[in-house]
Amino acid sequence: MELLLNNELRGRLTKDGIRIYEPSDFAGMHAAGAVAADILDRIADQVFPGQTTEAIDRTITEMVEASGAKSATIGYKGYQHASCISVNHVVCHGIPGTKVLKDGDILNIDVTVIVDGWFGDTSRMYVAGKLPRKAERLIQVTHDALFKGIEMVKPGNTFGDIGHAIQAYVEAHRMSVVRDFCGHGLGRVFHAPPNVLHYGRPGTGAVLEEGMFFTIEPMVNLGRPETKTLADDWTAVTRDKSLSAQFEHSVGVTADGVDIFTLSPAGTFHPTYGE
Ligand code: MF3
Ligand code: CO
Ligand code: CO
Repeated sequence: MELLLNNELRGRLTKDGIRIYEPSDFAGMHAAGAVAADILDRIADQVFPGQTTEAIDRTITEMVEASGAKSATIGYKGYQHASCISVNHVVCHGIPGTKVLKDGDILNIDVTVIVDGWFGDTSRMYVAGKLPRKAERLIQVTHDALFKGIEMVKPGNTFGDIGHAIQAYVEAHRMSVVRDFCGHGLGRVFHAPPNVLHYGRPGTGAVLEEGMFFTIEPMVNLGRPETKTLADDWTAVTRDKSLSAQFEHSVGVTADGVDIFTLSPAGTFHPTYGE
């Protein structure tokens, strides 16, 4: 009799404990990634001065249900929402609530869904009303830093190459990379090895292989990199109260480069200014 493998046991593990998925597994990641990215596309018109973050989250919850997917975050370690919404100096894991957005607020919306057992995890920046000039620079640099990291994704490069590319770009713009949070392996699970650091030295860390799936999700601060977590045990803020931004994609390593699972179906993976 053929042994039935648990879904999480598919493929093999590298010596660093990183799962190698099969070529046929990319389709599942694309399906999940597209659902999450489409929600981020369609939530943009819910971001405006006077809106609450819990109203935005409610719409996201409805969108997840309507898509037939499952929220990966509801029930995750006690988290109760379909999104994290991180406003201004909140670095990540902002809990949707009664906070009312005001003109010039910038926010990251992070959505993770499960489709047929595959996880799609992505986040982008949004602005309520008019984008302040300082925030515009921060958001642009953070977005471009993510893509500097993505450009390093190919077999033979290392995770240190990804981190270094991000760090060098951010610091050249006199901004700082958050060290306290990182990207992660994902696939049939939400958070798996490796820790994908957004800083590092070229040539260090695990070597990328075809079939690895992970997120890259740099958080960049206008001020110092240090964070602290509030009493709710989730909300991470900059210690110096400086503005923070983040973008996140879920990606897979292909034979000769990278496959981005969470590209925007509408082509709007960019700051919402100019719309
Ligand atoms: N989506 C986040 C990440 O990028 C994790 C959120 S966990 C939650 O890894 F519980 F805070 F939602
Ligand atoms: Co993530
Ligand atoms: Co995320």
